[in-house]
Amino acid sequence: MRVLVIGSGAREHALLLALRRDPEVGELFSAPGNAGTARIAEQHPVNVVDGADVTALARKLDVDLVVIGPEVPLVLGVADAVRAAGIACFGPSAAAARIEGSKAFAKEVMAAAGVRTAHSEIVDTPALLDAALDRFGPHWVVKDDGLAAGKGVVVTRDWDVARVHAASLLEDGHPVLLESYLDGPEVSLFCLVDGTTVVPLLPAQDAKRVGDGDIGPNTGGMGAYAPLPWVPEALVRQLVEETVKPVAAELVRRGCGFSGLLYAGFALGAEGPAVVEFNCRFGDPETQAVLALLRTPLAGLLHATATGTLTEDCRLEWAGGAAVTVVLAAENYPGKPRIGDVLTGTDADGVLHAGTELRADGAVVSAGGRVLSVVGTGVDLAAAREDAYRRLAQVHLPGGHHRSDIAARAVAGEITIPGA
Ligand code: GLY
Repeated sequence: MRVLVIGSGAREHALLLALRRDPEVGELFSAPGNAGTARIAEQHPVNVVDGADVTALARKLDVDLVVIGPEVPLVLGVADAVRAAGIACFGPSAAAARIEGSKAFAKEVMAAAGVRTAHSEIVDTPALLDAALDRFGPHWVVKDDGLAAGKGVVVTRDWDVARVHAASLLEDGHPVLLESYLDGPEVSLFCLVDGTTVVPLLPAQDAKRVGDGDIGPNTGGMGAYAPLPWVPEALVRQLVEETVKPVAAELVRRGCGFSGLLYAGFALGAEGPAVVEFNCRFGDPETQAVLALLRTPLAGLLHATATGTLTEDCRLEWAGGAAVTVVLAAENYPGKPRIGDVLTGTDADGVLHAGTELRADGAVVSAGGRVLSVVGTGVDLAAAREDAYRRLAQVHLPGGHHRSDIAARAVAGEITIPGA
């Protein structure tokens, strides 16, 4: 099989590594990729948000499957363009990708599917903002209604902080979604979805705040681990049956059935599981941990999903043990990151590149906020955590920073589901 992966993050690097392990995969292509993916796949430039450009590249490379990693091309209909050219594509249509692209649409679908989620209001007029904020609290959750790479979310106990964020979104012309706060530990559950067929992967948890102890602003994700020792298998089955399947069925009912990876983010609070968000693609950085443990050949799964032949009785095989991924970020991330710094130690196994590029002199330099992820594995979470931080210690980025507590609370047995 000839496979083209679209995107340039550590998630795409993880997808390429997992595809490389699949004996059915012959040629592997990455576009536009980064300095790390160039080492394992033939790299091509592409405008990822231009359906015609992606399709032309897929045709030129004569691929059997296109895998679209990031949400923006999906929301803009790039998968539709590729499929219209008769090429199998892993990734939902623009209509189905609204589950991530419009939080208002996601809320509507969840309400129709009878799925529990936060109470919310959309505010699109500055004059209505203060009164709307007064209807929420004592925790305010303020989100950009559109795509914001995880950084459009502010969760705060401070009315003024909530107001400043909401007002700045409105000033930039973005409607604001105010939500009631959902308590409880969060779970990211990735499911392969083909219409009403749902196949869950291992549950994972990511760390969204920039600093240790979940302090500081939200980021695209600073680390993750899988599986979750505090989530029993029966609970995963419940989340699939009571949430993911009804939502997949509701999308089919609306004529926009989902085909690809549906990412359900849950908060497991005292009143039971509630959906924090749905995303229309593999999550980053959870994918780096989840795919490190997958033993079922990935290309077959993605191709089956893309061609409508996925079945729920396909039993996924997983390596025993656990995986932990830690993100190395550039100085000043999640603000405007410093770029152009020379990295060392990035050729090692377990180093997945994201914001990196190869300079003309052969040096690997930083080119984005989240620069790379390291992935460690082990017989259990403690061993995987140790392995990840040992690998991270071999990488150097001037001004780089990372969290030092990824998976630490889970290893210490400090995460429990309220009421369980
Ligand atoms: N880990 C958060 C995301 O992928 O959106």
